[in-house]
Amino acid sequence: MSLAVDQRAVESLLAFWADAGVEALYADAPIDRLAEGAAMLRARSQPAPPPIPIARPTAVRGPDVGSAVATARAAAAACNDLESLAAAIAAFDGCPLKTQGAKQAVFSRGAPNAPLMIIGEGPGADEDAQGAPFVGRAGKLLDRMIKAAGLEDRVFITNTVFWRPPGNRTPTPQEQAVCAPFVERAIALVKPKMLLLAGGASAKAMLKREEGILSMRGRWFEWTSEDKATELPAMPTLHPAFLLRTPAQKKKAWQDLLTLTERLDRPDRPH
Ligand code: URA
Repeated sequence: MSLAVDQRAVESLLAFWADAGVEALYADAPIDRLAEGAAMLRARSQPAPPPIPIARPTAVRGPDVGSAVATARAAAAACNDLESLAAAIAAFDGCPLKTQGAKQAVFSRGAPNAPLMIIGEGPGADEDAQGAPFVGRAGKLLDRMIKAAGLEDRVFITNTVFWRPPGNRTPTPQEQAVCAPFVERAIALVKPKMLLLAGGASAKAMLKREEGILSMRGRWFEWTSEDKATELPAMPTLHPAFLLRTPAQKKKAWQDLLTLTERLDRPDRPH
């Protein structure tokens, strides 16, 4: 019997447990694997049972995405400050993640007129519980990096989606697309000078590019608003959760942050 496994969901779940410090799993009682193997061999001579359906992320289909994006765009456009934007996000029903176990909408934290906006992937368990982005272990690391770079109180932090994806899986492009008008409105209201895109899922969605994060990180790209009226320098970097799993990569993320800070603090040239 072949069992279809959603590899991304499994990787994402294992990474979540690893981040939480779970490195080994034990059952309550010993398991006799030899007896299991013998039972499997016996079962092979029986006709195969029907395949077990695997729960997959429910992606919204084309027309639904289109109408959800239109609804999000209208709701976002009606918001003239961050408080009303937060309320509009919480009231928005067009993102399927909202009904997949998330406790609440997670929008933002940080300075409302920050020169730097950091955009992560999506809320995790701690963010879902506390209602603010990057407040778990990855967030603590991000905060330490922000402070060390002298950016404390100069950042506004949000995500590409506002509800926790089940099992901490990566949000789908459809889920990111329906949340995008709110992210874009946040950029219009905060008016940052530049964007830092934490992780591949954020970089790909915000820049509409397909390269991996290891090739995009540390490079400058141009983020363009949907109506093409606004352009901002944007730098992808490694996600802090990835840095917790692979500390040897921290040097690269630190280098990215220094490059970004140097540009942020460079005096604006007269035109
Ligand atoms: N990871 C993210 O991408 N965003 C959060 O808010 C928390 C963890």
